[in-house]
Amino acid sequence: MGRRRSVVRVRALSRAGWEIPEQSVTPEGVFLRRRELLAALGYGAGALLLGCGPDRPAASARAAATPPPSELPGRYPAPRSRRYRVDRAITPEAIAGRYNNFYEFTTDKERVHELAAGMRTRPWQVEVTGLVHRPRTFDVDELVRRMPLEERVYRFRCVEAWAMVVPWTGFPLRALLEEVQPTRAARYVRFVSIHDPELPGVASQPWYPWPYFEGLRLDEATNELSLLATGIYGHPLPPQHGAPLRLVVPWKYGFKSLKSLVRIELVAERPPTFWNRLQPREYGFYANVDPHTPHPRWSQASERRIDTGARVPTQVYNGYGAFVADLYPRGPSNPA
Ligand code: MTE
Repeated sequence: MGRRRSVVRVRALSRAGWEIPEQSVTPEGVFLRRRELLAALGYGAGALLLGCGPDRPAASARAAATPPPSELPGRYPAPRSRRYRVDRAITPEAIAGRYNNFYEFTTDKERVHELAAGMRTRPWQVEVTGLVHRPRTFDVDELVRRMPLEERVYRFRCVEAWAMVVPWTGFPLRALLEEVQPTRAARYVRFVSIHDPELPGVASQPWYPWPYFEGLRLDEATNELSLLATGIYGHPLPPQHGAPLRLVVPWKYGFKSLKSLVRIELVAERPPTFWNRLQPREYGFYANVDPHTPHPRWSQASERRIDTGARVPTQVYNGYGAFVADLYPRGPSNPA
């Protein structure tokens, strides 16, 4: 108990990452491991108060800024789909773009945009491999040019209990999977983010199992809602939102929506996932939004809109039950 109390106190002081400003959300096991690691490195308690260790100047210093996407004329803004409607106003871009989770840069949500600003996002390839008949590596600009881009206004709900409404531009993940033709043995899809040891959050947090990795069941991945986003607010994705290509899975907690995707692998067994490996009791593989199943350390019954600050009830499957409830005959938090 004493140990836990001191963890909570330090967390309040350090206000880093998942810890702010919603709740004390940093997985405690992670925090404790971080503490051990810092001790092993000889940093001691002083460093601990800094939270996540020193943020180095962004790798942006050495990376060329992303060129304007002049090679992609006419792709943005894409036509908005009328099929996906939300009951709330779109979150202002300036707010969504200044409050991000992207641990490869920093755990400080409000600094991600500046640390990621110069991230190199071209050239960029995505390898699609594993249990497929036609493995391929795609260039992201080729995808933007020829895939059926559309704008979809989706609700987005973080496991930390903050929420926003965002107009993504992208194409269905299903469309890409059809091109590689999964074999009959493929049952899951594994996703991997960029791995650059020089990104400041990677360099300063070696205890995380980089690169960030996630997974979906194949029927989730091919659900019509699963989107590969290349843009947001009518233009290409800026780095802080996961440029140049990211996953968006709107009925699940936001940590499933992996950023800066470089690899997709079709596999037979359920793949491990980043947060689940770190803290399996707190971050499940399925992570479907469910107001009735609290996180072990906080309620999920309501959520805070990041634009107005209003607290509103959480919706089961984040409001997307009509599209996905059939995938989970035993309910959102008990999927077989
Ligand atoms: N993807 C990578 N590679 N690294 C991350 O730290 N954070 C996840 C998800 N994808 C994360 C990631 C979490 S916890 C959330 S809530 C969303 O990205 C945040 O997306 P946003 O910053 O575009 O709102």
